[in-house]
Amino acid sequence: MKKGLIKATDAFERIVHWNLAISCLILCITGLGMMFHSFNFIGTLMGGLKSLKYVHNFTGLWFLVSLYFAIRMWWKEAGVFSMPEDLEWIKVAGGYLWHVDKVPEVGKYNPGQKMFFLAVAIFGSLMVVTGLIMWFPLLFPPGLVRLMYMLHALGFAVIFPFFFVHLYLGTIGSPGSLSAMTTGWVTRAWLKKQHGKWLKEMEEKGELVVFGEEEKGSTSHH
Ligand code: HEM
Repeated sequence: MKKGLIKATDAFERIVHWNLAISCLILCITGLGMMFHSFNFIGTLMGGLKSLKYVHNFTGLWFLVSLYFAIRMWWKEAGVFSMPEDLEWIKVAGGYLWHVDKVPEVGKYNPGQKMFFLAVAIFGSLMVVTGLIMWFPLLFPPGLVRLMYMLHALGFAVIFPFFFVHLYLGTIGSPGSLSAMTTGWVTRAWLKKQHGKWLKEMEEKGELVVFGEEEKGSTSHH
């Protein structure tokens, strides 16, 4: 590892992220297998639609636990908008969609990332609640269960497209991002561009952990 790299995430954050990500993707794939005839082969691969449903339902519990930890650890950094810089960032769409001379500096997560986090937190919770009711349909009035099917499909329609934006921006769309969720170490240049305000605040507080330098203060930024 190179000297001067900065610690952006701790191990716990990355473990939670990948548990959330993998469980969510398994849910999307197995869900598609139940939703559309043309994807029924996913069920065939798993030994039939009945086992597909088992995999989906139990992965839902895995997702529930991951989502709980994700909301608990990220809501302060990614769940609350911080004014005025977030609004300024939104007005120029973060510089992603048209040319912007100077993109306003934002904290640990930019408003786009916050919107993704909020979509996952809100619609993910909706998926868990509606899914649990659909798992035990006999315990609830049929009309309610039918409504849950509709809301479950709606939640999917929100989270699934958002995921592709996240995948793109977490990898090739914003080079240098992926290491935040693999090794946890990122370059100063990437941080300055992506999370300039956070970098400044951490430096002022003396909490920045720089590889190859003696640790000052705490390693945690929660
Ligand atoms: C499989 C492909 C995925 C990749 C490559 C990926 C990559 C990343 C990266 C690099 C970050 C850190 C970005 C930064 O610090 O600026 C991040 C954050 C995050 N990821 Fe993922 N991720 C993936 C899947 C998922 C899935 C499926 C979910 C949700 C269910 C998810 C939820 C989040 C959330 C909530 C954050 C924090 C806020 C944000 O950056 O929007 N990720 N991811």
